[in-house]
Amino acid sequence: MNDLAQQRTTIHSYEDRYLRFRTKAGFAFRSEIGGLIPNGWTTIEQAEWMASVAAISDDDLLLDIGAGRGWPGSLIAKETGARLVSVDVPLEALRQGAKDLCETLGPRVLQVCGDGRVLPIGDAHFSAVCQADVLC
Ligand SMILES: C[S@@+](CC[C@H](N)C(=O)[O-])C[C@H]1O[C@@H](n2cnc3c(N)ncnc32)[C@H](O)[C@@H]1O
Repeated sequence: MNDLAQQRTTIHSYEDRYLRFRTKAGFAFRSEIGGLIPNGWTTIEQAEWMASVAAISDDDLLLDIGAGRGWPGSLIAKETGARLVSVDVPLEALRQGAKDLCETLGPRVLQVCGDGRVLPIGDAHFSAVCQADVLC
């Protein structure tokens, strides 16, 4: 499958799996983390652990590949002070997370609609990378 066909598949998969994924559990999680509704399975404890071992601070740029609505990069950026680039293929995923991400991180977050395999940003900009539930 070529890149474009793969991206179309990713968009359709997002629409099928997550567009209506707004369950009571999702909203409960959102109120607990004070932010967005995830569409993966990373727990708050796991995200906090990632933040504690990432060794990044406000001088650093964190890349979250396959971020969906912005989880777990949002928590890692919030806890470490790092700036965040949150990348996913479907524009709708970014749109759904935009308000919560901006409320949590303000100008320290940039959402990019793109394919993590062919990023339009050079690797050298980033100090750390996370991806959660992307290869499943
Ligand atoms: C299970 S969801 C996890 C989303 C988010 N990390 C979370 O935990 O809430 C997997 C995400 O990976 C994205 N994805 C899959 N392949 C990708 C690729 N090549 N580049 C960027 N994102 C990708 C999908 O669109 C989907 O939003």
